Amino acid sequence: MHVQEHVPLRDLTTLKIGGTARYFVSVATVEELADAVSFARAQKLPLVILGGGSNVLVADGEIEAVVVKIDIRGIEWGYRGTDAEQEHARPPKPQRRRGTNTELVVAGAGENWDEIVAESVRRGLWGIENLSGIPGTIGAAPIQNIGAYGAEIKDVLEWVEVFDTTTGRTRKLPNADCCFAYRDSIFKHRDGQALLVARVALRLSKDGAPNLTYADLSRCFTQSMFSNSVRPRTIAKPALVAIRRAVLQIRGKKFPDLAQFGTAGSFFKNPIIPKEQYDELKEKYPDLPGFKLKVNSQKLMVKVPLAWILDNICGLKGFRKGNVALFERQPIVLVNLGGASAADMQTFAADILRQVKEKTGIDVEWEVQCIH
Ligand code: EPU
Repeated sequence: MHVQEHVPLRDLTTLKIGGTARYFVSVATVEELADAVSFARAQKLPLVILGGGSNVLVADGEIEAVVVKIDIRGIEWGYRGTDAEQEHARPPKPQRRRGTNTELVVAGAGENWDEIVAESVRRGLWGIENLSGIPGTIGAAPIQNIGAYGAEIKDVLEWVEVFDTTTGRTRKLPNADCCFAYRDSIFKHRDGQALLVARVALRLSKDGAPNLTYADLSRCFTQSMFSNSVRPRTIAKPALVAIRRAVLQIRGKKFPDLAQFGTAGSFFKNPIIPKEQYDELKEKYPDLPGFKLKVNSQKLMVKVPLAWILDNICGLKGFRKGNVALFERQPIVLVNLGGASAADMQTFAADILRQVKEKTGIDVEWEVQCIH
């Protein structure tokens, strides 16, 4: 384990913001991760885990912590498991997955997410094609339950191998124990704070079906048979590779180029509000979109696109202050136009959320995680 001091973190994040780490260590194995945990304890400093740095805002100045960059690698396609695992293996639940002819892929937490998606598409494995183009590592993916175009990692995740800092052991956390919800999991809460992701297992399907529930995506596969036809024709089963291409194309139009701007994708979560509150807003703003969901199978809630609110209610699309702006094509995305500090970003974000609160009464949460 090679510990470095006062290491700049800015270039390890996609927002291109942040100060230095008091201590910094990159770990390639679970043993090295355990050593880093012991080192932090000895220094009486908190441990901060960094994956691809694509969903974090690192504070300015020095971070008084041991920052651990997870570089645990290795991908096993068609993972069969250890003998003990095979003995205890439950038969796959066909209703949870599309298709029953499945294959497990197990990847070290430091592997790049999109490379795994690209390879699964090449291998004809279904399940994560809608999640194409998301930056970051596979280890970070279950933490915020990454989702896009009608899919979430929770739909295919079999288990997460975690290093438990309280016991000093690794263990497998099955999907049901990860408490997945919209951009949420056990790892973001107290119960999961001691659990560091080491490996992730996904169950992909060899005979899956396209998931074209998201309007932006289904539109890509609807075409007129004749140019003057009034009835559009839907391509029954687009190929995996075509779905990936379509998702990348949609993302390319909506998200800023990482090489050009500092960004962390959606900076905020889409708010989930009680149906009554939604109905009131809808009276005032009849075009306000909303997606009904049942949270904890009790109350009827509605998920509202924040981008729509920022654009149509707050009139903030493209809004800019100094070097921070709401991206002109997708206002839920904040961009660092160059040289912005974490404080600039925080002030800007607070200002936006204050305006949303004033106009709609809605409290919005950050999706991006703060490192300070
Ligand atoms: N809209 C506007 N004006 C705009 C842009 C969008 O009014 O300028 C409205 C449209 O009505 C549109 C709606 O906002 O239908 C939603 O926009 P979009 O489909 O782009 O999705 P989103 O809700 O803004 C979410 C995720 C993204 C994910 C996309 C696609 C969150 C916080 N964000 O964005 O995830 O890629 O859906 O599924 O849930 C991320 O989490 O970092 C992320 C990028």
